[in-house]
Amino acid sequence: MVSLLENPLRVGLQQQGMPEPQIIVIFGASGDLTWRKLVPSLYKLRRERRIPPETTIVGVARRDWTHEYFREQMRKGMEEVHGGVGPEELWQDFSQGLFYCSGNIDNPESYQKLKTLLKELDDKRGTRGNRMFYLSVAPNFFAEAIRQLGGAGMLDNPYKHRLVIEKPFGRDLASAKSLNLVVQKYCKEQQVYRIDHYLGKDTVQNLLVFRFANAIFEPLWNRRFVDHVQITVAETVGVEDRAGYYETVGALRDMLQNHLMQLFCLTAMEPPNSMDADSIRTEKVKVLQATRLADVQNLDLCAVRGQYSAGWMKGQSVPGYRQEPGVNPNSTTATYVAVKFLVDNWRWQGVPFYLRTGKRMPKKVSEISIHFREVPSRMFQSAAQQMNANILAMRIQPNEGISLRFEVKMPGADFRTRSVDMDFSYGSFGITAATEAYDRLFLDCMMGDQTLFTRGDEVEAAWQVVTPILSVWDAPADPAKIPSYEAGTWEPVEAELLINRDGRRWRRL
Ligand code: BG6
Repeated sequence: MVSLLENPLRVGLQQQGMPEPQIIVIFGASGDLTWRKLVPSLYKLRRERRIPPETTIVGVARRDWTHEYFREQMRKGMEEVHGGVGPEELWQDFSQGLFYCSGNIDNPESYQKLKTLLKELDDKRGTRGNRMFYLSVAPNFFAEAIRQLGGAGMLDNPYKHRLVIEKPFGRDLASAKSLNLVVQKYCKEQQVYRIDHYLGKDTVQNLLVFRFANAIFEPLWNRRFVDHVQITVAETVGVEDRAGYYETVGALRDMLQNHLMQLFCLTAMEPPNSMDADSIRTEKVKVLQATRLADVQNLDLCAVRGQYSAGWMKGQSVPGYRQEPGVNPNSTTATYVAVKFLVDNWRWQGVPFYLRTGKRMPKKVSEISIHFREVPSRMFQSAAQQMNANILAMRIQPNEGISLRFEVKMPGADFRTRSVDMDFSYGSFGITAATEAYDRLFLDCMMGDQTLFTRGDEVEAAWQVVTPILSVWDAPADPAKIPSYEAGTWEPVEAELLINRDGRRWRRL
């Protein structure tokens, strides 16, 4: 039987089954992501018997930890994030597959040491030379790690060696291109898995199903019927303890260029020829190539940034961004961004896409709303009442679901109308937790399915769209000129204006 790992044929999105035994090597293993998300995800997959018992995890980081200490740290993580490890014997069994190897990203000897350990583990645990190298290190180390892995011959086999790269992939078009060059030097694209954890969310994948498994929406999904589209990802959290990272990226690089643009692509792209990875990713690249900022000559009319000031969240006072620990008191880093895109193709010509994301907003909510055109003649409208256009809202999180707003006649003698929502909620499936994004992404990567990962040209096309903003916002700015919004409120006034100017308003969520 040909294994999935060795099978060069592409594996489709719907592929189910058990991946081959393999070693998952996590670089940056002492970081938060490892104990918060990565190891718990792998443990969950193991408990659900979706990955084989031979699955082995090797943490790599600078600190001088032992295997035992690494296991303890992962256990603590499970206790803190998931309230415990569940049945003790299961954890014992899983944790025997956790190993640690201290090393420096730029030291070739560390890679030789790692190579020897992986070989030993292959023999001991039956992992057959299959490897996934997961780069969960600071982005400025990605290129060096890839060079060293490649130089040590650890990426030589495109069917057995996979490379997973966390976001952000580059910090602008030039750096993304140069990182892609390093990747291409040592890997074939089929080995590379660029993570955008939004693609691992069920509700994001459902965009494909909703659009392409239903016949009734597609005829409406274009400039003839759609007035505009809004994509919102609002968070209640502030910068948390990530100032060091966040100060160097801001909302545009942290959220918009990746997560929101993925939501945008899945909403705006053409139907793919099939559901395989390359067909879908090709359509995403095509829509990105047709996308531009609405008015590049007047950036303020199509891109607004903001920064939260002190305010109140759930009755508690919270500091402003500049007062957060580790943040420069004169920081000009944006914690909010709103943009207006236009897509120059037959489907979307003239239809604006408004995207916004911010931290310390009143609510955690991610949603895509399609705002349809108004009826051509307002037959039922009296001076006293307002009729609303139809809205299709796809709720990514929380309260995952879809609703369609339409007008109905109020009971009574006259023709008074009212907006109502027809609603589908994922909760009605009775499944409490949707698949965690990282579970899905791990499984797909282990199975060799790249559909939910971004391709090299796709990342570059996304950077290309936001390049005009970066070239202005990256220049030193007067801190007093950065628009602000109070923590616990929606956008800065400037972002209201961005959409109000067009006679539209942000949906209140
Ligand atoms: C991460 C960003 O990629 O996504 C964080 O770095 C952000 O700043 C997070 O908080 C949001 O993810 P989610 O899944 O909670 O919407």
